[in-house]
Amino acid sequence: MDRIVVRGNGPLSGTIPISGAKNAALPLMIASLLTDEPLELTNVPRLADVVSLEAILANHGVDSLIKGKRFGESGMSGRTMQLQAKEIVDTNAPYELVRKMRASFWVIGPLLARCGEARVSLPGGCAIGTRPVDLFLESLRALGAQIDVDGGYVNAKAPSGGLKGGSYTFPKVSVGATHVMLMAASLASGTTTIKNAAREPEVVDVADCLNAMGAKISGHGTSTITVEGVTSLKGASHAVLPDRIETGTFAACVAMTGGDVMLKGADGSLLRAALDVLERTGTTVEETEGGIRIARNGGVIQPVDIVTDPFPGFPTDLQAQFMSLLTRADGVSHVKETIFENRFMHVQELARLGANIAIDGQTATITGVNRLSGAPVMATDLRASMSLVIAGLVADGETEVNRVYHLDRGFEKLEEKLSAVGADIERIGSD
Ligand code: EPZ
Repeated sequence: MDRIVVRGNGPLSGTIPISGAKNAALPLMIASLLTDEPLELTNVPRLADVVSLEAILANHGVDSLIKGKRFGESGMSGRTMQLQAKEIVDTNAPYELVRKMRASFWVIGPLLARCGEARVSLPGGCAIGTRPVDLFLESLRALGAQIDVDGGYVNAKAPSGGLKGGSYTFPKVSVGATHVMLMAASLASGTTTIKNAAREPEVVDVADCLNAMGAKISGHGTSTITVEGVTSLKGASHAVLPDRIETGTFAACVAMTGGDVMLKGADGSLLRAALDVLERTGTTVEETEGGIRIARNGGVIQPVDIVTDPFPGFPTDLQAQFMSLLTRADGVSHVKETIFENRFMHVQELARLGANIAIDGQTATITGVNRLSGAPVMATDLRASMSLVIAGLVADGETEVNRVYHLDRGFEKLEEKLSAVGADIERIGSD
């Protein structure tokens, strides 16, 4: 298995191009199931998760074609993908496929809306928490679906005549269940109202794409979304929005090492809460037309308190990376995780590098240390892996991050992007 080796190498400087967002690209690809016409996506990040989802969608009859040059040939820009589901050949999503990627459960929405039925394996637990699917089932029931769970599978059936518009108030904000309800309601008859909907930029991106495909969605980006159902959707071309988590991650890298880096193509409005926290740590954040400049020249990292929350709050997907930054702060910081119950798996590994972190329930107390020292570490999810890379950027000696496949799921060409701004980071193949 590949490993990534990082050695502390001083401040970073230069430019890092920001890729398209993984968490928008995945539901956008799934939206291709809603029409028999081609859906063209541009700025698709080249990630292992995108490739896995292509295989999963192929099982349902989606042809995908990657146009243009491969990543290595076209610099750091994303690629263009054309997806077409002329015919849905299978409405079953088996366990072998769904267990590889939780987001593949989301095919339940478009399959049910287009074909009137779907049989999708329950995704099971994952490293960051139990992650149930009750909200998906309840919101689809609000559209008239008959749903039962049997033998590890969710069997969903639309009423004769198809899904019907309805109203649903999410008891808890869910990004995935909002995506699914949006897709399903787009092809339902009548009007659907989604209350306490997720406001994440990726939900807005998916709604914009669905509208380009002929859907009638309004209110996306607020907590009440209205969908006027249509009888069919058509093809469209849509550019995936920039990855706010990749942006915040590289910003944390620069805040950690010091230096001056332009995050090209980044959009500050997608991660205001995280940029505010960075400024409070003493990092300079300058938003420009072409991206965001992050700089820290000398001075200590100020301690801060962070609470994760649904958008527009501080994203849980940046929690591990910012905690890593705070391990070197000049004082005591607190990080409270409110989205997932088990997303502190990186703490033990950061401790192996010399971090001083105590956990009490959902809150971590981080007492800054002067020095981190390199060690072999491993992590259980992609954001946690990245927190170890960030620590490795300033640790003495060598930090070896194992289970690199986690990073490949969500960070495009990580080593290339970081070495281009002066980091000492390399991938070591298994043989
Ligand atoms: C999305 O996951 C993201 N994944 C996650 O990013 C992200 O951490 C999460 O949203 C929160 O922002 C993708 O977009 C592919 P949720 P999702 O449903 O949709 C509970 C990463 O690192 N819940 O908003 O699965 C759930 O357990 C990943 O890129 C229920 O209780 O998250 C959690 O506590 C990891 N019942 C909370 O809601 C349900 O039916 C929010 O989860 C559904 C969710």
